[in-house]
Amino acid sequence: MKPIVTVTNVFPQVALDKLSSECDLQMNQTSLTKEELRQKFSESDAVISYLTDRIDKDIIGGGTKLKIIANYGAGFNNIDVAYASKRGIWVTNTPNVLHETTADLTWAMILGAARRIVPADRYTRQGKFEGWGAKIFLGGDVHGKTLGIIGLGEIGRSVAKRAFGFNMRTLYHQRNRLAEKEEKGLNVEFCNLEKILRESDFLTLHVPLTDETEYMIGNDEFSLMKKTAYLIHTARGKVIDDYALVAALREGRLAGAALDVYESEPELTEGMTELDNLMILPHIGSASFETRDRMALLVVDNISDALAGKKPRSLVPTYYK
Ligand code: DGY
Repeated sequence: MKPIVTVTNVFPQVALDKLSSECDLQMNQTSLTKEELRQKFSESDAVISYLTDRIDKDIIGGGTKLKIIANYGAGFNNIDVAYASKRGIWVTNTPNVLHETTADLTWAMILGAARRIVPADRYTRQGKFEGWGAKIFLGGDVHGKTLGIIGLGEIGRSVAKRAFGFNMRTLYHQRNRLAEKEEKGLNVEFCNLEKILRESDFLTLHVPLTDETEYMIGNDEFSLMKKTAYLIHTARGKVIDDYALVAALREGRLAGAALDVYESEPELTEGMTELDNLMILPHIGSASFETRDRMALLVVDNISDALAGKKPRSLVPTYYK
């Protein structure tokens, strides 16, 4: 009998084709309820999960023959990893394949926020453009400014590399400092949280959601930032207190922000849609055709490893939340 592999939601065909000969594929086209997930887990040898599937003890507990939960994404805060590993179930994610694409989007957000691209487009298509004006849609320069990166993992590093072309000073903050040689290669300067908040013109967040990073940016942190600064966020919603962000933007305590992720995703915090100095995107950090295929193929490799009795190639680090 072929192993049963459940795919909890839509998934690239190129990856399904690779699995279909070796497995009994159980496909789904929309999000499953908690009860449906529990049922699927109880019948499957492997599950391909979305980062919107909340995979808790109840769901994992039903998986009597389950070998692997292969998350279709780099983040995996949606899975109770500690419990899965206690039950001997592998949990994998998709590192090393989406950082460049997410860094591209981060830069689109930096430039878009500074130069007010979305409101300017809206204004033009509403027929309000009546010719060149010395004061219409003035924004902030990006080149030559200070970029702050919190979390210099693979995405943060790719963001830093791009800053070189904009002739920026780049600060970074994270738990561990890089070796001097690496800092030089990336043209980055290590600093504490207070300094990065005070000195950045553009502050971008690239940390995973952990006990340490949950709500790390809120009122106190906004009060240290420059009034002319922009905040960019493509990591996980709960790293920021969105209510505090809306208030800071509304009161002019920050120049602007761009969000790809939300505290109560997919719900938006009240007031967000009224703010012209806030760009809001639907969690599209890794959403390029090429990268989504690469992620899916890595998911399939992980499944094939586990079903062949081998250690999957991209296991998640278990210390994350
Ligand atoms: C991830 O992979 O964690 C991203 O947030 C998906 O875009």
